[in-house]
Amino acid sequence: MAKRENWGSKLGFIMAAAGSAVGLGNIWKFPYTAGENGGGAFVLIYLFFVVVIGFSVMLAEFAVGRRKQLAAVGAFKSEDRRWTFAGALGVLSALLIMGFYPVVGGWSLAYVSKVFTGLLNAPEAIASTFDSFITNPLVPLMWMVAYLILNIVIVVRGISTGIEKAGKVLMPLLFGILIAISIKGLTLPGAMAGMEFLFKPDFSVVDPSVILAALGQAFFSLSLGMGIMITYGSYLPKQENLVSNAAIVTVMDTAVALLAGIAMFPAMFAFGIAPAQGPGLVFVVVPTIFAEMGGVGTIFAALFFIALSVAALTSSVSLLEVVVAYFIDEKGFSRPKAVVVSSSIMVVLCVLASLSLGGVGPKVFGTGAFDIFDLLTDKIFLAFGGFFVSIFAGWKLSKSDLQNEVTNNGSIKFGLFGIWYALVKYIIPLTILWVAFGGIRDGFESGAGPIMIIGLLIIAITAVFSKKL
Ligand code: PFF
Repeated sequence: MAKRENWGSKLGFIMAAAGSAVGLGNIWKFPYTAGENGGGAFVLIYLFFVVVIGFSVMLAEFAVGRRKQLAAVGAFKSEDRRWTFAGALGVLSALLIMGFYPVVGGWSLAYVSKVFTGLLNAPEAIASTFDSFITNPLVPLMWMVAYLILNIVIVVRGISTGIEKAGKVLMPLLFGILIAISIKGLTLPGAMAGMEFLFKPDFSVVDPSVILAALGQAFFSLSLGMGIMITYGSYLPKQENLVSNAAIVTVMDTAVALLAGIAMFPAMFAFGIAPAQGPGLVFVVVPTIFAEMGGVGTIFAALFFIALSVAALTSSVSLLEVVVAYFIDEKGFSRPKAVVVSSSIMVVLCVLASLSLGGVGPKVFGTGAFDIFDLLTDKIFLAFGGFFVSIFAGWKLSKSDLQNEVTNNGSIKFGLFGIWYALVKYIIPLTILWVAFGGIRDGFESGAGPIMIIGLLIIAITAVFSKKL
């Protein structure tokens, strides 16, 4: 058997794992979700989930992946065939996220070009430009295809050459741009109201759906609950320190989300733009902010959308990689064949998602494809994926096996092992169930409940049929 490919260097792994985590989730989804869910209290709950649940599940995923040196499905299946479904659910989530993520990735690419073709010249038209752009049936599709082709090129070239090189160059660039934009925003008059909105909690706005949104955001942003970090962990050499790797990736991801918030909210408040803009927030607010700044604004806006595209790309290649790794490891496909098959399915889903924003295509309970894929993954599949990884690590693996994997057979000190183990075994699964069911109950008031129930049914069906995989 050929030796399994490994990461070229420790930095390469961190950059790739952080590259997977840092993406549209941080820069597109986090600000608008915080805006829609009332700001400070949501942010605080999200931070709590990141520290207590996110970090712990990430460590569990790294350990499960590296233990068997197999990607998502294989890591579960080789332990016990009845657990195949947990990996299969991850592959399914990756496919569904790739059913809308490249649509937004395409918007981001499109905005790099829009910035240079006069978008900022008419600030009053920026919001309507966004609406007419995303509801246009054809143009966003072309950008989406361009975006997917970029993904394919990176993933076809294999793990250490493609993904690693992309991450190494592009992540530091992103960080720098966000810091520059934040400084600019914070120095505007009236900016402090934005900081207050983002960081001063008002717990009267918290209901179960806000809590579920915060949990979903934590999982989505950290790329957890679907086998990404299992897959990446499977490529990690045995002497690497899993605990510090998980901590570094968690901190980097959260820093970028907060930085994106700081880059956006103070400027929004300074310019009197309302925070609950929905998914258009980044695409409307950021160009508006830059339009008000005159000439330098164009440069800043272009850099911003280049950074957003780059961040999106290093995340979506990881999603594509989960599906590709499944076909390679489990079905014996060559890498190019696996990429062609996976991306063909994704194109079909993305076309449905993109068209649904213009009101075209099938609806389920009044919800279009884009929102269905988002709801199913963000609110249901990732949380349950995290639930299953925790149950698997806490109950299926023996405590000593897990301890040996996490501490590299005792050569690494992890003083909090006992607490982490209790979290993974008891507290995290119970918390996820509590938050998910509260959120589903609440979802019936907003109309999202039926889709969430369908999500639970899909999980049950996957559990029944995945033994054949
Ligand atoms: N974490 C990525 C982001 O924040 O954009 C998105 C993502 C990638 C979610 C991989 C889930 C995943 F498995």
